[in-house]
Amino acid sequence: MDGPALDVAVLRRAAVEVLRRNDLGTATVAAPGLYPHQWSWDSAFIAIGLSRIDVPRAAAELRSLLGAQWSTGMIPHIVFSPGAADYFPGPDRWGTDDAPARPADRRTSGICQPPVHAIAVRHILDRGREEGGAVQEAAEVFAAETFDALLAWHRWLVRARDPDGVGLVEIHHSWESGFDNSPRWDGPYSRVVPGPVAPFTRRDTTHVEDAAQRPTDEEYRRYLWLVDQMRAVGFEDDRVRESIDFRVRDVFVSAILAAAAEVLADIGDDLGRDAEAAEQRAVARRFRAGVAATVDPATGLARDWDVLADQWVAPLTVAGFAPLVAGGDPGLLTRQRSLLLGDQWMGHPALRFPLPPSTSPVSPDFRRRTYWRGPVWPFLNLLLGWASLRDSAWDLRWVLRDASLDQLADLTFAEYYEPITGEALGSRNQSWTAAAALEWLA
Ligand code: SER
Repeated sequence: MDGPALDVAVLRRAAVEVLRRNDLGTATVAAPGLYPHQWSWDSAFIAIGLSRIDVPRAAAELRSLLGAQWSTGMIPHIVFSPGAADYFPGPDRWGTDDAPARPADRRTSGICQPPVHAIAVRHILDRGREEGGAVQEAAEVFAAETFDALLAWHRWLVRARDPDGVGLVEIHHSWESGFDNSPRWDGPYSRVVPGPVAPFTRRDTTHVEDAAQRPTDEEYRRYLWLVDQMRAVGFEDDRVRESIDFRVRDVFVSAILAAAAEVLADIGDDLGRDAEAAEQRAVARRFRAGVAATVDPATGLARDWDVLADQWVAPLTVAGFAPLVAGGDPGLLTRQRSLLLGDQWMGHPALRFPLPPSTSPVSPDFRRRTYWRGPVWPFLNLLLGWASLRDSAWDLRWVLRDASLDQLADLTFAEYYEPITGEALGSRNQSWTAAAALEWLA
């Protein structure tokens, strides 16, 4: 099957146009329609894409996100746009207005998302330095200005989410992982028995062609039950940990923290913040080791840990490649790369493009059209590509780049893609997909 041929200039123009249309001024909606607010990790990937076309605007993106940081250091997963009501659950349902740690002048959700932000700041700094002059100066001022906020963010993750020092970040909602309905969470959610949840009307299913591309109502009932549990204790970290029905050490979030802490340490070196740089290097080591220790010798994949059930969570999902994001032991990374390029993953003969599906096609959990149960996510390929560049893993890097550009040549900038047919699924004109295109084109 042939797709549209890649025309680099057309792709670039179209990607820039998506980001322009989704721009609210200093924040970018994650997608028109389905996601009308600013999402935390979307915003970081968007900033990476924006840094290729407008460094000051990229800085503004993260500045506005960080403006909603909680006093604890947490960066909330959604910063609500005041004018956009067509999203559920909105700020009233979250009930964060009375949370002691919430920001004064923004309404937000009460949970976090993966900490990719330092990596985005690094991109802004690097692009600024390539341009030189006033843009470089602005990028350097921005990096200095955001350093303490990022430090507070990483310190919060370490303190509030890894209190026992195991080198893994604990999450309290699958929305915190970003992999909302991945088979990773089926086990932990099967043990969540929701109490009464106030009636709700979903909006997400009205924005996709087929509701089967989204999580089920049963999954939503559990998502909302956990929100209610957090709300009941004012979103206070210790009280949430003591009372919540979902506690999982998320290996992929942990890997991102390891990678981001190393990057933040490099920025700290640049800024002469030696003590903080050393601290972040220690965080990177701790979480790299935590991630590596989860690898299942039988499958070669990293695993999550269900704290309440005291057991591993190990379906065949792309999160199993967390060590490739974390970096570290070259032997482990080489084994993981050959697994990823092999026939259960990117090399699976049925795939439209050699890109990692969110769940392996050989897994019984594989659902080719449903959100995190099988589809390919372009922003994730960009993250893996970034890590391959960091580690000079050219074999993986070139396959990811070429296949990503071929996939994105359809100009839909879909949220996710059907792995076998290549069909665009979920939202269209998704901001971080456009950002990924710009970064791959560079
Ligand atoms: N991804 C979730 C949603 O679909 C929330 O972060 O709305």
